[in-house]
Amino acid sequence: MRTRAKIEFGDFQTPLELAREVCALLVRQTGEVDSVVEPTCGVGAFIVAAAEAFPKARLQGWDINCDYVEQTVNALAEAGAGSRATIGQQDFFSHNWEKELSGIPGRLLILGNLPWVTNATVSGMNGGNLPAKENFQGFRGIEALTGKSNFDISEWMLIQLVKALRGRTATIAMLCKTGTARKLLRFGWQNDGRIAAASLHRIDAKRHFGAAVDACLLVASTGESGPVEAKVFQDLTARRASTTLGLAGQDLVYDIRTYRRLKHLEGLCPYQWRSGVKHDCAAIMELRRIDGKGLQNKLGELVSIEPDYLFPLLKCSDLANGRLEPERFMVVPQRRVGDDTAVIARKAPRTWRYLDSHRSLFEARKSSIYNSRMPFALFGIGDYTFAPWKVAVSGLHRTARFCLIGPVNGQPVLFDDTCYLLSFEDEAEARIVTAILNSPPCQEFVSSLVFTDSKRPITVELLQRLNLHAIAVAAGMAAEWSDARGQRVRYHESDAALQAEFVMERPLKPV
Ligand SMILES: C[S@@+](CC[C@H](N)C(=O)[O-])C[C@H]1O[C@@H](n2cnc3c(N)ncnc32)[C@H](O)[C@@H]1O
Repeated sequence: MRTRAKIEFGDFQTPLELAREVCALLVRQTGEVDSVVEPTCGVGAFIVAAAEAFPKARLQGWDINCDYVEQTVNALAEAGAGSRATIGQQDFFSHNWEKELSGIPGRLLILGNLPWVTNATVSGMNGGNLPAKENFQGFRGIEALTGKSNFDISEWMLIQLVKALRGRTATIAMLCKTGTARKLLRFGWQNDGRIAAASLHRIDAKRHFGAAVDACLLVASTGESGPVEAKVFQDLTARRASTTLGLAGQDLVYDIRTYRRLKHLEGLCPYQWRSGVKHDCAAIMELRRIDGKGLQNKLGELVSIEPDYLFPLLKCSDLANGRLEPERFMVVPQRRVGDDTAVIARKAPRTWRYLDSHRSLFEARKSSIYNSRMPFALFGIGDYTFAPWKVAVSGLHRTARFCLIGPVNGQPVLFDDTCYLLSFEDEAEARIVTAILNSPPCQEFVSSLVFTDSKRPITVELLQRLNLHAIAVAAGMAAEWSDARGQRVRYHESDAALQAEFVMERPLKPV
């Protein structure tokens, strides 16, 4: 069991063997250095490994925990490197990094493994290991820096280090979550952080730290601006990159080389992608048919309600696994956001009693979007929800498998908010759009954009970037699509294979 202090201080000490592997890579990649700084050195694995790998370098290590500082001092003495080291107790958040780093001459390496904890976890336990509030304002809001209000402490620290280093050459080599490494690079590339070159080297966090996260060694050299891309290696010893991530406009993409080759497939999707129904009350809203017994909710209760507010339901795992015959149902008390739910009491009294008997679970929904709403309110609902034909995809799976879903027993199939969908009145149009989205050019383009380790690899923003016109042309399906939409297509002769101008004879059908 991890103690409270270990959680608050994001304490995962690096095994010496891993620190040595990292230093061996750095010696290969950057050569000799004059100074090594470990900003949160813990019991000293990195500083000891650096002492061995860089026998002439000056060493500096800091940690908030004075026991750890003492252990690091002892470990360095044992390694015979005590005389070239300065180790001390310091709180990262009150350290003047700009002053300190600008005062270090020569080739500088900032090395280590910053705390693994989020600000939400620290605040949730009333902990104090957080950057001071005024710092947030000083940088025009932490959200401006990190893009969100919940962030990894290591992300915040890395950004401070890059900011402090701006204008001087140095190498940063840090173990961190792969997502944190990407955010740091994005920050540097978008904010003139002067990142000259960068690479990510995956590590097995489960083996080394017992943590089930995607983690890597981030190596970035600062001081000059370089290409906005970083090679990604499968492990610390790999000599060939498996892919190259990079910045495309405002977004990071997984495989920048493929993205550049297929960039012409990007544009505005003529349809509106939507997310499935959001209810945050699966225990009550999602029902399963139990043979011979009827419907059962997730609390194990048998539920006997009118069919009026019941619809077949598919979830993301159904879509990802091709289980396209719905086995579940969703209770849907509204047809549009804000609909009055009180009418259910009159129209379908058993449904009302069922919902009302579980009112407390609806009232306990965490998201503030439900505050001051109708009882049993939903989001992500509108006329499009009830269209007969859908093209749907899971937001949570790595492979974008687009599924064509038609009505079941005359009822439209609905999706929960882990899925995204396009809605159609017409089967033929839905069918060809599904084929276009599953075509090799589209799949390759989507794969170039998606970071498979993200919690939600497929997002509405990504889907909305798929230029169906260009993809249909590249997949040889433009004429079929045009037929399905009753439109005439005119190609530019110059680049007929990849570019087509579609002359709309009537405006796009709203969906
Ligand atoms: C993930 S551990 C890594 C330790 C060491 N860098 C290593 O690689 O083994 C994070 C370290 O950060 C230290 N730490 C946490 N918050 C700190 C802060 N505000 N200032 C300085 N050190 C901090 C913890 O005590 C812990 O030793």
